[in-house]
Amino acid sequence: MSHSLVSVPLGAFQINQLISITESELLVKQNQSSQQKEQVIFSLIVPTYNESKNLAQLVEVLSRLLDNYFNEKFDEKGELTYELIIVDDDSLDLTWQVGLDLMPNYPKLRVMRRQGEKGLSTAVIRGWQASQGEILGVIDGDLQHPPETLTQMLDQMLAPHADLPDIDLVVASRHVEGGGVSDWGFIRRVLSRGAQMLGLLILPNVIGRVSDPMSGYFMVRRNAIANCAMNPLGYKILIEVLGRGQIGKVAEVGYVFQERQEGESKVTWRQYVDYILHLLRLRSRGRITKIRQKLQVPLKRFLSFGLVGLSGVFVDMVILYLLSDVSTLAWGLTRSKMISSEVAVINNFLWNDLWTFRDISSQQVGWRKRIRRFLKFNFICLFGIGLNILILNFLYNYLHINQYLANLIAIAIVTIWNFWFNLKLSWRVTQTK
Ligand code: GDD
Ligand code: MN
Repeated sequence: MSHSLVSVPLGAFQINQLISITESELLVKQNQSSQQKEQVIFSLIVPTYNESKNLAQLVEVLSRLLDNYFNEKFDEKGELTYELIIVDDDSLDLTWQVGLDLMPNYPKLRVMRRQGEKGLSTAVIRGWQASQGEILGVIDGDLQHPPETLTQMLDQMLAPHADLPDIDLVVASRHVEGGGVSDWGFIRRVLSRGAQMLGLLILPNVIGRVSDPMSGYFMVRRNAIANCAMNPLGYKILIEVLGRGQIGKVAEVGYVFQERQEGESKVTWRQYVDYILHLLRLRSRGRITKIRQKLQVPLKRFLSFGLVGLSGVFVDMVILYLLSDVSTLAWGLTRSKMISSEVAVINNFLWNDLWTFRDISSQQVGWRKRIRRFLKFNFICLFGIGLNILILNFLYNYLHINQYLANLIAIAIVTIWNFWFNLKLSWRVTQTK
């Protein structure tokens, strides 16, 4: 048997629901091939970056522990089992290669080598995406999370909870009975608790659900996070799970965070910044993006429309000068203004038709339709001019605002008016049939 890498899932960070196999289908499957008898129900992800010195020991300890656990627990139903997936971000120390070399001795071991993407949280999701289990777990690859805790966590996940709903999430926590840190200095404790408090301020309903939201050691039921669009940032994958999943019942198990024996921590100031950005992103829950998306189309259009409007002011000025100035034609002011504004309206229409609303006008071909659009545009703009005069007068005569400022406000309002009605009327296809 050749040992190959697990291919990296592409695209969105979204975990699929398992295709449920009915018992009868399972029976058929079992009768067909005896090798396919085993069903993975627990998938444990080990994210690694430069952990080559820890990997052999970690895999050995985890495999022995989980082999024993599943053998004892499912004595009669030997087909239920686990898988161990290492997700390595193309470590310089070739951690993934060490993993591959271990595979002949550990049949439950799988190794993923990510080359394009980076980052702890996304590594965990990619691992889950490639997994088969109903229970999804994660544990650090540096032995700082004591493996023995896994058995208590699995007990919680697998225990039938009588008539209570199943537990969706079990978190190994430093802050409950039996939990702690081995040898942390004052500053490290303050930073850790400070981060937790900040989280409570920004996202009380999410961070407040567990005693140790910073934990990277937990198990979650696949159903609780399946089909949720994940978008994690940085280190704290648990926050993403709590923030975006449908997490019902939660349990916690105490553990003591061990000191690192080999390799080194990858935490830098960057992770603190990412953590805050991650909290804010969850807080806004896509609202900012949604508003931006909503505004974007009209906003872009509105800016084009405004620019075209400016060109119209320029055209109006030039024509008015050419017709009415004493040094040129010296026509009457009213007559000149009527012609200059009409030329400006035509100018604006052409630019808007060719540019601002190009996507819409290209759907309505033919001169008749274009002329109809022009007439509507002209009509709305005439109304706009009337409105401009009304607002100007009101602001100037009643509110005693400076005439130029008043005109500026009036123009701004009329531009919005013109834009809105032209968008809704002139360039709108009114399907009658
Ligand atoms: N694939 C991948 N990509 N793995 C990574 C990356 C990455 O970019 N960065 C870190 N890791 C792996 C490490 O190799 C290690 O197995 C694990 O993620 C944790 O990284 P550490 O750098 O050792 O983190 P730590 O011990 O300081 O921080 C831990 O603090 C929490 C307690 O507050 C986190 O690991 C949490 O899981 C832990 O609970
Ligand atoms: Mn660590």
